[in-house]
This record gives sequence, structure tokens and C-alpha cells, in this order.
Amino acid sequence: MPRSALILAVLLLAAAGAAGLWFLSVRRADPQYWPRKPLQNVPTAHAVRPADWAELTLAGGPGGNDWVLLPDQPQQPPFRSSVQASQRGFLAPQDCVECHAEYCETFQHTSHARTSMLPSTDSILGSLQPGHNVLTTARTELQFRMQQQDNAIVQQVILQHPETRTVFTGSFPMDLVFGSGNHGQSYLWWNADRLYQAHVSYLSESDAWVNSPGPYFDGTADFARPVPVRCMECHVTWIAADPKEMNRFDRSTLIPGVTCVRCHGPAHEHVAYHRQHPDETQGRRIVNPAALTIQRQNEICAQCHSAGEDHASLFGYRPGEPLEQWLQLDLSASAESNADPHAANQLARLMQSRCFQQTSGFACTLCHDPHQNQADTLTITAQQCRQCHQQDPCPEVQSEKTGSLARQRCVACHMPARRDAQVAMQTRQGNIEALLRDHQIGIWPETTAIERIRLEATLKQTLQSVEGATP
Ligand code: HEC
Ligand code: HEC
Ligand code: HEC
Ligand code: HEC
Ligand code: HEC
Ligand code: HEC
Ligand code: HEC
Repeated sequence: MPRSALILAVLLLAAAGAAGLWFLSVRRADPQYWPRKPLQNVPTAHAVRPADWAELTLAGGPGGNDWVLLPDQPQQPPFRSSVQASQRGFLAPQDCVECHAEYCETFQHTSHARTSMLPSTDSILGSLQPGHNVLTTARTELQFRMQQQDNAIVQQVILQHPETRTVFTGSFPMDLVFGSGNHGQSYLWWNADRLYQAHVSYLSESDAWVNSPGPYFDGTADFARPVPVRCMECHVTWIAADPKEMNRFDRSTLIPGVTCVRCHGPAHEHVAYHRQHPDETQGRRIVNPAALTIQRQNEICAQCHSAGEDHASLFGYRPGEPLEQWLQLDLSASAESNADPHAANQLARLMQSRCFQQTSGFACTLCHDPHQNQADTLTITAQQCRQCHQQDPCPEVQSEKTGSLARQRCVACHMPARRDAQVAMQTRQGNIEALLRDHQIGIWPETTAIERIRLEATLKQTLQSVEGATP
């Protein structure tokens, strides 16, 4: 699937600038997470140096010898939060199922529900089968093997001296799976109470293990890249984070997946009320986004689907409140800068459409149903376009030849999917560029030219198969 490249280099911009500068201080400066804040408490890491396995003479590589990076062992006792998720009303879907069984059933198949998962042979999409579980690298002496080991599924680093055959191995558990696999998956591991990204990711497009996107250069092994709370705010429902540290969490508080309460707000009072009033048919003490203004509805999605500077942890945001107190939205994204390093800015682009501006606006949910895995967004969307554009003012739709096809494919021309060179992912097979759907509904002549050729080809094929069927 071509969209795979969206497991975008979270650090891509930093990486591009800092390529070759293999210094932690530079690399750790995740600019989009702390745009204007000074960096504090960046956890320390150490390179495994030649001295660590004396005979190895390691030449070259980005940054000379420091091409195996491991985090230092934290010195403090483990972080324990005094706040539990349930006290804040962050309940898991299991807490809704007794009364909303249908929603819970369809919801578990969505990419939101599956965007972070505990590890298992089901949730980890890359193969653990011998013969398919090894990632070789540009250095013959370095490879990774993904396998079950004791009670964990691990990424094992295997370093072998080309002459002496001395072997260094180290195993890092895949403790948390990030990504539904639409595009790919990355894996996080716990070093005591610190969360780090593992070196190897999985790319759906090629069904293969790859070096993680971003500054994970081929021929290096990096298990020391801290995972900041901002990653968690977009990919998990809740986790207690130590506000003073960059990647320190209370692991026992994790609720994986982006689930109900991230869009409906704290639900403990709702649940308590309805348990006490089983005959009540009106939902109480819970946010129904449909009852909010369009702006407030879309801000729920913008927590994670926009670009901007965050002022405060989004785990504190409540649907229905003005998002700007948490996140300063950047609504100026252009077609070129749409793909802010990791996720696209759908809200900004949508709001720049005349469809949006010349009406009272509409919600993301016009085209996206958050409660089910929509296989066919394109067709659904075409129907939504027709709600406002019944008259067929579009010359392509009126075309006698291809009009009937064009009628189902409004978005192919009016919301172009583009490969974005800014957000390329490096693999050994070459760069894979992200394919993003521009949410500015507009007139795009170049896209139309390509789509027209495609429509004509489809038409020809259909005619040929009809002729073939009735000789
Ligand atoms: C003890 C039963 C019960 C539990 C548990 C429960 N709900 Fe509800 N909920 C209801 C009832 C009854 C309604 C009103 C009827 C309906 O819309 O289904 C409702 C309605 C809602 C609504 C719509 C509110 C509106 O204004 O229309 C939302 C959203 C909602 N629930 C979310 C949740 C979430 C999220 C959870 C889990 C964290 C949850 N509920 C758990 C009983 C429950
Ligand atoms: C601002 C919110 C945000 C942050 C921060 C964020 N992500 Fe994402 N991530 C997304 C969105 C949105 C997508 C889906 C991209 C799309 O379809 O537009 C995504 C996609 C992914 C995917 C691919 C999932 C798939 O569809 O298969 C992976 C893996 C991933 N992110 C890992 C990470 C990691 C690791 C971090 C932190 C180092 C991180 N993300 C930080 C929002 C975020
Ligand atoms: C990604 C955001 C998101 C997630 C996650 C989500 N919802 Fe919703 N939900 C919405 C929106 C938006 C609406 C309003 C839809 C509309 O416009 O009709 C809604 C509406 C509802 C309603 C009211 C439906 C009605 O008839 O008015 C219920 C009940 C509900 N959700 C339950 C759940 C439950 C239970 C879960 C978890 C299993 C869940 N939702 C997960 C965004 C979400
Ligand atoms: C807390 C963060 C968060 C919120 C809130 C959120 N999303 Fe997402 N969304 C994500 C992440 C992360 C992904 C990538 C999931 C993956 O594939 O791993 C995603 C994926 C998606 C996708 C691609 C899904 C697919 O099946 O290909 C759509 C569409 C989407 N979100 C729409 C919405 C809408 C609409 C809302 C608001 C009603 C919303 N999201 C709210 C984080 C969020
Ligand atoms: C809520 C109503 C609404 C929806 C839904 C809607 N539009 Fe529009 N659209 C409008 C209005 C109003 C205009 C402005 C008309 C004008 O300027 O004469 C417009 C303008 C346009 C234009 C001209 C844009 C330009 O920059 O000149 C195109 C193309 C278009 N719409 C296509 C679509 C497509 C395709 C969809 C579905 C993906 C869609 N619209 C969904 C209301 C809507
Ligand atoms: C007029 C219909 C429409 C509206 C409104 C809309 N989207 Fe989309 N969205 C689409 C279509 C069509 C796709 C492409 C689906 C596909 O390729 O299967 C898409 C794809 C996505 C994706 C997957 C990433 C990608 O680039 O393909 C995300 C995430 C997303 N939309 C989020 C949002 C958010 C957030 C909003 C509100 C700010 C929103 N969408 C509003 C039609 C819409
Ligand atoms: C093959 C590409 C293609 C497809 C498919 C397509 N359009 Fe268009 N559409 C265009 C182009 C190009 C224009 C601009 C025509 C011009 O003004 O020269 C346009 C113009 C429009 C306009 C603006 C007309 C005006 O005069 O302002 C609307 C509205 C529109 N299309 C809606 C739709 C809808 C709704 C669909 C699906 C039912 C659709 N289009 C399918 C290419 C396409």
C-alpha cells in the first residue's frame, strides 16, 4: 500500500539538518515537540565503544565509532503516579461495553483503536519466522533478529567481529506497538520507567522489517531515542507522565489505543449516573460532539490531526473546551507544507476550501465515521459532495464519456493524494515518500489531467471486458 511512508520520520527535519552530526544533544532536540522551549532533562545515553568489545575496530559510519547507542540506566526509583486514569475519567472501552456493545464491537477494528497495542504475535505485524525475522544492514557485522525470547518478543542486536567472530548481542523487548499497520509500525521499549523507541520498524508496503524512519541510519543500532509525552498524547488514550522528565512514565497507568474518552471526554460520572439510573434513555454527563459547534467538534480531531505549538499536555484537554489553551493551531498550511513532519494538517487545509468558507463549515465526521473502519471513504465522500453540489456544475461529471465514472471519484481530482518529498522515509531500497490526501477541496488541473487518463483507461477496459463477454 503506497501510503505506507506515513510512519514519518518524527525527527526528519532535525535529521536532515543534523545528518552526520551524531551527537545526542543535537539529535534529541525533537524540534516539533518543543518548538520554543529550552530542552530539559534529556536522558543520557552512551555509545557502545570499541573498548566495550576490545578487538572490534569500527571504522566510519555516521559519527565515527558511536554507531551503537544504548540508554543509560536510570538512577532514580521508578516513577509512580498518585493519579490514576480512572480518577480523571479516562476509562477504557471495556468500561462502556455493558451499555454500548455495538459501538465497542465496531470500534475495535478502527485504526484509532489499534494505533497502540500491547505486544503479541497478533499485534506485531512483522514476521518472527526464521528466514523472515532478520534485518541485515549495510555493515556485514551488524544485524537484527526479531524473535520470541523468554516471555517477550524482542529485537536482538547481533554484532559479530568479521575476523575474530567475537559476538556481542543485546535484546530489547518490543513492549508497546505503535501504529495500526495502515502504513507501518514502530516499537517502543521500557528501560525501567523510561520509554525508548527501538531501532527496527515494520513497513507494510514492503511487508518487511526496516530501519526506523528518521535518524536511524542503515548500519547503526540505536535504542536510545527517548519517546516524549507528545507521542503518547496522539497515540494512546492516557498514561501518567512525570512532568519534569522527558520520557518517564508510570507504566501501570497506560490505556492503549486512541479510544472513546479522547473524543467524548471524561466518562466516570456518566457511567456512575447510568449505572444508578438504568431506565434513563438520555445520555447524561458526557460530551456528544454532534451537539458542539463545528469548530469545537473539529478541534477534538485537531488534537492529533493538525500542526501547532502545544502549550500544555493534551491529556488535560476536554472535548468542548477551546483547544487553543492547549495547542496553538497553525491554520496557514499550504499544499507544500501540509505534511507537517509526521501527520498531515487536515484541519487547516479543509478550512481553506471554498466549500468550507462559503458555508457554515462542516465537521470531519461528514466523511469519517469514528466508530467504524471505513473501507470506502472515497465513495462515501462522493455522496457527501453531492449533498451540496447536486447541480453537476462540474464539466468532468457532465462529460458524456467518463462522467459516470467521474461521479464516483470527486475526490480523486478535488482532494489530490500526493507523494510528499519532504516526508520521505529512508529504506535500503530507496526513499519512500508519504502519500497524503490534501484536504483542501479545490480545482487542481495537474491532478485532473492524470485522473482523466486513468478514467479513460478504466472506461476502455470496461468496454473491452463487456465486448469480450458478449462475442
Ligand atoms: C451503565 C450504562 C452505560 C455505560 C457503562 C456507559 N454509557 Fe454511555 N450512555 C448510556 C445511555 C443509557 C445513553 C443514552 C442512550 C444512548 O445514546 O445510547 C448513553 C449515551 C452516551 C453518549 C451519547 C450522549 C448524548 O448526549 O447523546 C455517549 C457519547 C456515551 N454514552 C459514551 C459513553 C462512553 C465513552 C462510555 C464508556 C467510558 C459509556 N458511554 C458508558 C449508558 C451508559
Ligand atoms: C501530533 C500527533 C502525533 C504525534 C506527536 C505522533 N504521531 Fe504518529 N501518527 C499520527 C497520525 C495522525 C498518524 C497517521 C498519519 C495519517 O494517516 O495522517 C500517525 C502515524 C504513525 C505511525 C504509522 C501508523 C499506521 O498507520 O500504520 C507510526 C508507527 C507512528 N505514528 C509512530 C509515532 C511515534 C513513534 C511518535 C513519537 C516519536 C509519534 N508517532 C508521534 C499522529 C502523531
Ligand atoms: C475519534 C473520535 C471518537 C472516538 C474514538 C469515539 N467516538 Fe463516539 N462519537 C464521536 C463523534 C464525533 C460523535 C458525533 C457523531 C455525529 O456527528 O453524529 C460521536 C457520537 C457517539 C455517540 C452518540 C451517537 C448518537 O446517536 O448521538 C455514542 C453513544 C458514542 N459516540 C459512543 C462511543 C463509544 C462507546 C466509543 C468507544 C468505543 C466512541 N464513541 C469512540 C467521536 C468519537
Ligand atoms: C488522540 C489523538 C487522535 C484524535 C483525538 C483523533 N485521531 Fe484520528 N488518528 C490518530 C492516529 C494516531 C491515527 C493513526 C492510526 C494508525 O493507523 O495507527 C489516526 C488516524 C485517523 C484516520 C485514518 C484512519 C484510517 O482508517 O485510515 C482518520 C480518517 C482519522 N484519524 C480521523 C479522525 C477524526 C475525524 C477525528 C475526530 C473525530 C480524529 N481522527 C481524532 C489520532 C487521533
Ligand atoms: C456543505 C456544503 C458543501 C460540501 C459538503 C462540499 N462543497 Fe464544494 N462548495 C460548496 C460551496 C458553497 C462552494 C462555493 C461555491 C461558489 O463559490 O460558487 C463550493 C465550491 C467547490 C468547488 C470550487 C472550488 C474553487 O476553489 O473554486 C469545488 C471544486 C467543489 N466545491 C467540490 C466539492 C467536492 C469534490 C466536495 C466533496 C469532497 C465538496 N465540494 C463538498 C459547498 C460544499
Ligand atoms: C469532504 C470529505 C472529508 C472531510 C470533511 C474530511 N476528510 Fe479526511 N479524508 C477524506 C478522504 C476522501 C480521505 C482519503 C481516504 C482514502 O484514501 O481511503 C481522507 C483521509 C484522511 C486521513 C488519512 C490520511 C490521508 O492523508 O489519507 C486522515 C487522518 C483524515 N482524513 C483526517 C481528517 C480530519 C482530521 C478531518 C477534519 C479536519 C477530515 N479528515 C475531514 C475525506 C474527508
Ligand atoms: C476528472 C477530474 C474531476 C472529477 C472526477 C470531478 N471533477 Fe469537479 N472539476 C474538475 C475540474 C478540472 C474543474 C474545473 C473546471 C473549470 O472551471 O474549468 C471542476 C469543477 C468543479 C466544481 C466547480 C464548478 C464551478 O463552476 O465553480 C465543482 C463544484 C465540482 N467540480 C464538483 C465535483 C463533484 C461534486 C464531483 C463528483 C461528483 C466532481 N467534481 C468530479 C475535475 C473533476
